Amino acid sequence: MLRLVFVGPPGAGKGTQAKVICTQYGIPQISTGDMLRAAKAAGTLAPELIDAMGKGGLVPDEIVIGLIKDRTEKDDAKNGFLLDGFPRTVPQAEALNTLLAGRNHKLDTVLALNVDKNLLIERACLRRTDKRTGQIYHLKYNPPPPDADLEHRADDQEDVVRNRVETYEKMTADLLPFYRKAGLLQEVDGVGKVEEVTSRVLSALESVKKKEA
Ligand code: AP5
Repeated sequence: MLRLVFVGPPGAGKGTQAKVICTQYGIPQISTGDMLRAAKAAGTLAPELIDAMGKGGLVPDEIVIGLIKDRTEKDDAKNGFLLDGFPRTVPQAEALNTLLAGRNHKLDTVLALNVDKNLLIERACLRRTDKRTGQIYHLKYNPPPPDADLEHRADDQEDVVRNRVETYEKMTADLLPFYRKAGLLQEVDGVGKVEEVTSRVLSALESVKKKEA
């Protein structure tokens, strides 16, 4: 049983690490970004939300809170989940607390991935995702195989990535102190090879399990 949150700026490696951790722990990765992009692809996302995402801003709290409420009720999330990119604001974090308390649940830990700003821009701009498998690649650090069906995210253009980083700094600044005060925050160095970051994340998670044992 593990209920955890990944916080970190755009390109920090949340999605990359989430896939490994979720496989290892047998829990679903719940990404509000992926859900919003799926809604956009299905034609069910309101134009003003598409516009906010395209400019690097956030969508309103009540929209993402509603998505998380519905998704965490599903059977596969009963024994835990990894929230990737949610919450991003203190009102979202408070809503999550209320939601979990209503189910007699609580978060086990919040992992913040720290990565230098210049590296973030390079990581996001050169990211490519395989449309068929959802696998995340990087043209320089983790090149895709020749048969991959690649997609370049609409918000991975440099000017938009810069706005997303700025939005993160402005909107998410209060979130880390919020979780630090709650005794839930663990900061993990997100720089280095993917496997090196994974072992840091795993040791942070092991320390939580030991505390609970
Ligand atoms: P979202 O999809 O959540 O995007 P994000 O938070 O900006 O994060 P990214 O997906 O860009 O990065 P990541 O940290 O997952 O990095 P990744 O592992 O892919 O949100 C998109 C938008 O939706 C938001 O801007 C907002 O508009 C809206 N939204 C979503 N949630 C919301 C919420 N809660 N509230 C309001 N609005 C919300 O890695 C990036 C690249 O780096 C890849 O190419 C990867 O291969 C490479 N890489 C990863 N790790 C390493 C490493 N260790 N070394 C070298 N390269 C690496």
